[in-house]
Amino acid sequence: MSPTPTTDTDLFEIIRTTRSMRRLKPDPVPADLIRQILDAGVCAPSGGNMQRWRFLVVQDPAIKQAVGDLYRRAWDEIVAPRYREGAPAPGTSRERFDRMLAAAEYLAQHMHQAPVWIIPCLQGDAPGRTAGSSIYPAVQNMLLAARALGLGATLTTLYLNFEKEAETALGLPADWHSYAILPIGYPRGRFGPVKRVALADVVFSDQWGRPYQEGGR
Ligand SMILES: Cc1cc2nc3c(=O)[nH]c(=O)nc-3n(C[C@H](O)[C@H](O)[C@H](O)COP(=O)(O)O)c2cc1C
Repeated sequence: MSPTPTTDTDLFEIIRTTRSMRRLKPDPVPADLIRQILDAGVCAPSGGNMQRWRFLVVQDPAIKQAVGDLYRRAWDEIVAPRYREGAPAPGTSRERFDRMLAAAEYLAQHMHQAPVWIIPCLQGDAPGRTAGSSIYPAVQNMLLAARALGLGATLTTLYLNFEKEAETALGLPADWHSYAILPIGYPRGRFGPVKRVALADVVFSDQWGRPYQEGGR
């Protein structure tokens, strides 16, 4: 049994160290920690504060097995070949990228063993920017909350390559759709820091392409 972790509370440290934790222990996660993660999720904003979200918490081994099989198939047949043939993520060495792929491979093999999955859902058939912007803030809140509680998690969507089959296996009504699966558990490795490209490469000032000037022009 994993020890109850101490809660980290420095927000910026949590943000900097919330990386995808794909290697998880199968040890159960106490219900009160799952509850705290869900509470953080529903603190997120949604358009008009309509909160049309639903969150499916999956702990049933048979459901995780069925959907985990689809996840692994999507990884093996579609996603892994694409990543392995392509260039590493920007600002990432081939070696580091290969480590990420190894972790993703591990998750694909062990997805069903994560003790708890949280699946954010919305009603309606219009996945896109508008719908996504009313659910992904809740997802990020939950990832940060899990990290603060010493729990590992990953935002995963590659099972959506088999969306229909996965959502049937999850028992979603026909007009409801999942936006991610968050496998959550005690991590085998250590948190963060995350690796990103420099701000100078992604931030502009006033005009597209104009380097960002702190404090304005
Ligand atoms: C929209 C989205 C979908 C993702 N889907 C998957 C996934 O299906 N499987 C996976 O292992 N990681 C998935 N990730 C995690 C990213 O690969 C990860 O966040 C990225 O490589 C940066 O690594 P880090 O989170 O460890 O900093 C996804 C992330 C996002 C934002």
